[in-house]
Amino acid sequence: MRALNVELGQRRYPIRIGQGLLHDADALNRFAPGRHVMILSDANVAPYYLALVESAFAGKQLATLVLPAGEQEKTLARFGEVMSALAALGASRDATLIALGGGVIGDLTGFAAACWMRGVRFVQLPTTLLAMVDSSVGGKTAVDLPEGKNLVGAFHQPVAVLADTSTLATLPNRELRAGLAEVLKYGALGDRAFFDWISENTEPLLARDDEAIAYAIATSCTHKAGIVSRDETETGERMLLNLGHTFGHAIEAEQGFGGLVHGEAVAVGMVLAAQLSAQLDMAPQGDADRLAKTLGALGLPTRIPEGLDPQRLLARMRLDKKNVSGKLRLILWRGIGHACVVPDVDEAEVLRALQSATKTFS
Ligand code: NAD
Ligand code: GLY
Repeated sequence: MRALNVELGQRRYPIRIGQGLLHDADALNRFAPGRHVMILSDANVAPYYLALVESAFAGKQLATLVLPAGEQEKTLARFGEVMSALAALGASRDATLIALGGGVIGDLTGFAAACWMRGVRFVQLPTTLLAMVDSSVGGKTAVDLPEGKNLVGAFHQPVAVLADTSTLATLPNRELRAGLAEVLKYGALGDRAFFDWISENTEPLLARDDEAIAYAIATSCTHKAGIVSRDETETGERMLLNLGHTFGHAIEAEQGFGGLVHGEAVAVGMVLAAQLSAQLDMAPQGDADRLAKTLGALGLPTRIPEGLDPQRLLARMRLDKKNVSGKLRLILWRGIGHACVVPDVDEAEVLRALQSATKTFS
């Protein structure tokens, strides 16, 4: 088992990564001291792992909510259902919410925990690679609106992240690859040596080699925990974690959250950010090409999906949370391992990048 902490001034919480953590009922109960527990999961995850987690909370007043799977469920309507279920349980302020699933369940549960009675505790039990390396850590919680990704949410930290890596055995290959996009993001934004290691280890990673996956998760969580500890509410450095996301979120929203999955959209978005950086003479074209090649070797898309209109994508990007005073603020890079915040990117240049990517790629 590997363990690290997210340090937030006087506050801190553990991230534990290892095989079989869901079997540790004592540990689960330690993070849920009150009378009420509500477990949220989705219809793909629940058949594998829900009974095990429920059994850990046998002594509690327990409710379980299993939602349909997928990004289309990360909505205000589902959030409302969670609120009603908490009311039906009679959950008091000492209640603990348990997120058993990927980033969709994690973000929704976290937002529900932030709002129920103005904030109760929650535990992240991530079951996708993406959730283990990114979404379960750092306290960003949200739901989507049809107008855009994660537009309604709150910063609300979990009390613990327990990543049972044995759950990855049932994860579909497409979702494994989507998680590897976020793993590569850490190398791309700030750790060239990690980027090199990933590009040299695409085969063991895709084959789910235990050691390679454990190293990828631990290194990613170390980066994420460090960045969140230094900038909890994204006033500076944390913005770098959004490399590729403004483009990616626009693609997801434009596809009605039913096309590329989040990690795939981030893969395309990172390529676009690297291409735009080269176009602006900020970074070598060779690094953009290398990023696209490594993502391709991981089985990820590197092209804007056919049929998406660059003008509409640009309009979506204008609603990104990082923008200020009507100006596009993007995460670009100076090359592999050197992401940076660019506060006022010329929209004409962004449109040119989107158009040329659409032309070249579709
Ligand atoms: P997801 O939660 O939709 O899970 C992907 C799919 O895998 C789903 O169909 C799910 O049912 C299935 N699944 C999950 N675990 C499984 C398992 N062990 N075995 C079999 N099937 C399993 O998607 P995701 O990629 O985990 O998360 C994406 C979401 O996370 C997006 O909404 C994104 O915005 C969010 N996110 C949030 C943050 C953050 O900091 N809060 C960071 C990155 C991403
Ligand atoms: N995934 C982006 C962040 O946590 O800030």
